[in-house]
Amino acid sequence: MDKSPALVKCQDGSFTAYSSEFGEHYHSTKDGALQESLQKHVIPALHINRHKPKLFILDICFGLGYNTLATLHYLHTNNISKHISIFSVEFDKKLIDSLTKFKYPKIFDKYKHIIDSLSTTGSYHSKTIDIQLHLVDAREYLLTCKEKFDIIYQDAFSPAVNPALWTYEYFTQLYHLLAKDGVLTTYSISLPTRLALYKNGFHIYLLKHQNCRSSTLATTVPLQGYDEINMQHKISCNPQAEPLHDNAII
Ligand SMILES: C[S@@+](CC[C@H](N)C(=O)[O-])C[C@H]1O[C@@H](n2cnc3c(N)ncnc32)[C@H](O)[C@@H]1O
Repeated sequence: MDKSPALVKCQDGSFTAYSSEFGEHYHSTKDGALQESLQKHVIPALHINRHKPKLFILDICFGLGYNTLATLHYLHTNNISKHISIFSVEFDKKLIDSLTKFKYPKIFDKYKHIIDSLSTTGSYHSKTIDIQLHLVDAREYLLTCKEKFDIIYQDAFSPAVNPALWTYEYFTQLYHLLAKDGVLTTYSISLPTRLALYKNGFHIYLLKHQNCRSSTLATTVPLQGYDEINMQHKISCNPQAEPLHDNAII
């Protein structure tokens, strides 16, 4: 039986999929899977960490693997040599099994052996790349993490359908896992998400893109060269707004 998720072509020409379980696409079909991954996650995260020779990356939720593959692609095409350790988490084993057949953009052809290895063995290792794909619930996985991450790609489905990965308590876990000068990237610009980040002590930045909607960067120390969002002002304009909490969703 074919276990592949239904393919959907995005406006940038790349393919994403639709999750009937969550009732959402894996990416914004308007922004495009590849563009969303590059613009909202990979390019800003790698730029902020450009001075580091070795990067630890937490890729929550692996999904179709765009964020991991676009990271490798961006480093390769820009001749950036670094050691990369990617720790990825995803709880949908059927999806991971199906990825050997997924219709990725042509530019990912050179990573076919990596996708095959991740899909069949859960890991890939070379001289400069270590990737581990953990097939568990992300909240459980975070409890076992020992590393500090330079980059966290926060890429769950939307807070409306995937709330456990957007709560104040969840971001407390991520705050402690982010390296002091590291960065968390997410497509969400919603006020409850920003409040969950802010109330944990994150500094929050709005990132504008040319061909995609805006996204959010969050850091534990102020980020030079970026305009920090004035959260006190947002709160005074929206005094009723609250972050999601674990006890309200489980
Ligand atoms: C928006 S998609 C991720 C897209 C992905 N980053 C990519 O580049 O293709 C969200 C993914 O999160 C996974 N997911 C949702 N809740 C999860 C959880 N609690 N633990 C682990 N994975 C989860 C879903 O199965 C889905 O694959």
